[in-house]
Amino acid sequence: RMMKEITGINIMEKQLAERLGIQQVILVSGDADKNPAVKKELGNETARLMESLLGGNSIIAVTGGSTMASVSEVLTASLSTADWLFVPARGGIGAVMSNQANTICSKMAERTNAGYRTLYVPDQVSTEMYQSMIKEPAINEVLQQIRCANMVLHGIGDAMTMAERRESDISDREKLKNGKAVGEAFGYYFNESGEVVHKVQTIGLQLEDLSTIKHVIAVAGGYSKAKAIASYMKQAPRTTILITDEGAAHQLLDK
Ligand code: G3H
Repeated sequence: RMMKEITGINIMEKQLAERLGIQQVILVSGDADKNPAVKKELGNETARLMESLLGGNSIIAVTGGSTMASVSEVLTASLSTADWLFVPARGGIGAVMSNQANTICSKMAERTNAGYRTLYVPDQVSTEMYQSMIKEPAINEVLQQIRCANMVLHGIGDAMTMAERRESDISDREKLKNGKAVGEAFGYYFNESGEVVHKVQTIGLQLEDLSTIKHVIAVAGGYSKAKAIASYMKQAPRTTILITDEGAAHQLLDK
């Protein structure tokens, strides 16, 4: 990259981190909405970050979605220096297998010669089911591992897109509409002020778990996700590192 370009990107990264109130922003060029190759680049940056932040014996909790799926595609065996364990941060959502946290974890593990666990549950369950499921030893073990994770890798979604993917019912969609939800992460829906306007009863990672996890990495790009990113970052731990693209950044910085 040319010097000028590097400087420009660096300034934007700093401005954006300040604007969002988080530790660090890593920017890639382009817009993931317009060019699918940008998601790969988000993945490459995530891989570099994993390499620099993680030592041996690390537990990495991973959510689902197409961005995380892109990350999984660019990981390589050279990354894993010692024992890594990938654990799904949530259960299953919607019908697309390639976007499931379980699928992504197994792929990440395969590509880095690491271990992985599977969470055999739907993401969204009734309160009654939730109470009995978390007592299941196989499920409880994974939930414990999520809480002991050194790193979380997660996506951020547009609220309505995620409601579609979850096949949420009319009453939930009304709630999102009335609450003016714009963003979603791990089953929480946020309005522009960052208030939680709806929470899906999910198995797996909860917002409050993030405070005890050392490295929280959010990966989300594209112009269409700017509002979602801004809303979630009002609740995110200050230690969060966001990997995003120029498409989202320009929108977030009103450029
Ligand atoms: O929670 C947010 C979603 O995982 C984001 O999904 O990467 O397909 O946009 P996506």
